[in-house]
Amino acid sequence: MNMDKFSFYKEHPKSCDPKDFWGQVKRTVNGKPVSKEQIDMIVEAAAAGLLLDSEDVLLDICCGNGALTNLFFERCRGGLGVDFSEYLISIANQNFAKETISEYLLEDVVEFCLAPKSAANFTKALCYGSFSYLEHAQAKKMLKALYDNFPHLKRVFIGNLPDRKLIKLFYGDTPVEPQLANDPGSAIGIWRTKEQFVEMVGSDRWKVEFRRMPENYYAAHYRYDAVLIRL
Ligand SMILES: C[S@@+](CC[C@H](N)C(=O)[O-])C[C@H]1O[C@@H](n2cnc3c(N)ncnc32)[C@H](O)[C@@H]1O
Repeated sequence: MNMDKFSFYKEHPKSCDPKDFWGQVKRTVNGKPVSKEQIDMIVEAAAAGLLLDSEDVLLDICCGNGALTNLFFERCRGGLGVDFSEYLISIANQNFAKETISEYLLEDVVEFCLAPKSAANFTKALCYGSFSYLEHAQAKKMLKALYDNFPHLKRVFIGNLPDRKLIKLFYGDTPVEPQLANDPGSAIGIWRTKEQFVEMVGSDRWKVEFRRMPENYYAAHYRYDAVLIRL
């Protein structure tokens, strides 16, 4: 595994200003935080995919610093964000936690889903810009656990997945080693085709719908979103 993973999660955010929320999670273009319009596009797309409404309780898997999570919690009853980066969870707790409405927990997301400590009745779940960083077997376990251990969960939005078929549009003429596309520790994580994604979800638990972001979204040309709907 590429050890940069640890500097990306654990060290890079500490090099940013404590209020540079998008820089901390590398939501940047040419080193600059993306615009509010880009963030709004993400929120609209995920809220639409989740059919998020004011009664929903949301689980944000790999919530990072909570800056994105908070925009979803404002549209529902609130919920819980889980992430294993101590620094990012501390930023989330300092800036976005609200007692009983929005909480942030420091834990590995797969471990959390396998043995959830929170009794909250989550109705929707989000995993944005993060699924590709989970080890393959761990990610499969998590998808199963989301179905088995969260019976009220109706929809899961897994956003910003790198599309294996479109990898050349990202790397251009730079030769790409096959193992790079399968490395959860690389800068982009594991690249998967939609067919590979469906195979790992399995057909007996979730129906999968795919979506693309509007063309003016900065990563629309090489990423897709998936909505899992409980069968
Ligand atoms: C690119 S950031 C995205 C954060 C947030 N979802 C957003 O879109 O702003 C990826 C996040 O995944 C988290 N992460 C990766 N693997 C994880 C794991 N196994 N358990 C918990 N968090 C994990 C990292 O700590 C990091 O905060």
